[in-house]
Amino acid sequence: LASVEVDVASLTPGMSLIVKWRGKPVVVRNRTEQEMKDGEAVKLGDLKDPIARNANLPADAPATDANRTTPGKEAWMVMVQVCTHLGCIPLGQEGDFGGWFCPCHGSVYDTAGRIRKGPAPENMAVPVFKFISDTKILIG
Ligand code: FES
Repeated sequence: LASVEVDVASLTPGMSLIVKWRGKPVVVRNRTEQEMKDGEAVKLGDLKDPIARNANLPADAPATDANRTTPGKEAWMVMVQVCTHLGCIPLGQEGDFGGWFCPCHGSVYDTAGRIRKGPAPENMAVPVFKFISDTKILIG
């Protein structure tokens, strides 16, 4: 399917679900306050990949925490959960930065899905998406 509608009404903070979109796993995570704070505290200069990689923004948008999400819904991460190294599927809420950890070669992503350690070159991709209601997201 080119687009997928996702009902996120049941996701309280700290919960995620994964949907398949164009054959890829896309994680939808309602981040906790702490996860957002951790993401916002990161300096751009500390990022291995300073580009947002958010298909909803210009290609050169910086990888701030907010730019990895969508305006007014900054708690929500919507992201292709595929490691940018060689395409393994990272595990959620694992690793040193409390985000994602790729067991294949040890790439570590933070709570905004930005690469922080290991061989992966880029932040995980944020696909085209939007909230079409308070509890529904359209991906693609
Ligand atoms: Fe994820 Fe290599 S595929 S670290």
